[in-house]
Amino acid sequence: MQETPMDRREASGNKIPSHVAIIMDGNGRWAKRRGFPRLVGHHAGVRAVERTVRAANDLGIRTLSLYAFSSENWKRPENEVTGLMGLFRLYIRSKIDALLAEGARIRFAGKIDGLPADIQQIVRDAEQRTAGQKGLQLVICLNYGGRQELLDAMNRAAAAGEAFPLDEETLRKYLYLPDIPDPDLIIRTSGEMRLSNFWLWQSAYSEFYFTDKLWPDFGPEDLAQALEAYSGRERRYGSV
Ligand code: IPE
Ligand code: IPE
Ligand code: MG
Repeated sequence: MQETPMDRREASGNKIPSHVAIIMDGNGRWAKRRGFPRLVGHHAGVRAVERTVRAANDLGIRTLSLYAFSSENWKRPENEVTGLMGLFRLYIRSKIDALLAEGARIRFAGKIDGLPADIQQIVRDAEQRTAGQKGLQLVICLNYGGRQELLDAMNRAAAAGEAFPLDEETLRKYLYLPDIPDPDLIIRTSGEMRLSNFWLWQSAYSEFYFTDKLWPDFGPEDLAQALEAYSGRERRYGSV
């Protein structure tokens, strides 16, 4: 019988996080060190995404979320923003068939209506076509900001006529993806140790793993190392 990711997960004896979130940082520095324009680093970053998605699937991770573009990244030079949008267009469209074949589901978190109209369409199409799939859940955080998400959630709760004061359960219903579990583990590459407005609500009890590796150099071994570190953590949630 063929070994499934779930078998491997149980056989390993390690605690495998259900939701791993990654702040993919360092593309610009990776390119700069080689004397290339920043966009070359973003292209190399796409290859790291492909390796990491495959590795996450093999390791039995259920949900992988990737911070691809923050609500603050619009502050970057116009040519970089345009280049990144071009990359999202190409990447999302070209990935759908492979995701379908692997049984994976793709979803997006962020202010999607703030993206160019054709990307909004590509995003909706990718979500719809992979909607029923039960394999790895790949979440792309695109035009995502945690503060924006919380403001949107509160405003939408008010507009829907929810009773105030709100409780946690009600607020959660208005987050971008209310049904996904909070990240168990948040990885950030490139040596920076900050959240940069990522998963603000959802990271309340996440474990953190930082590596100096720049995102384009990240691979399956690095993911395995992060999981190894995670398996040694003791999560207490305020208890003893
Ligand atoms: C992360 O790499 C990718 C995005 C934010 C889109 P950076 O572009 O932030 O790379 P550095 O931090 O400048 O090296
Ligand atoms: C965070 O990286 C956003 C993404 C990885 C998409 P940044 O490079 O934008 O974060 P700061 O500006 O260094 O905090
Ligand atoms: Mg950066």
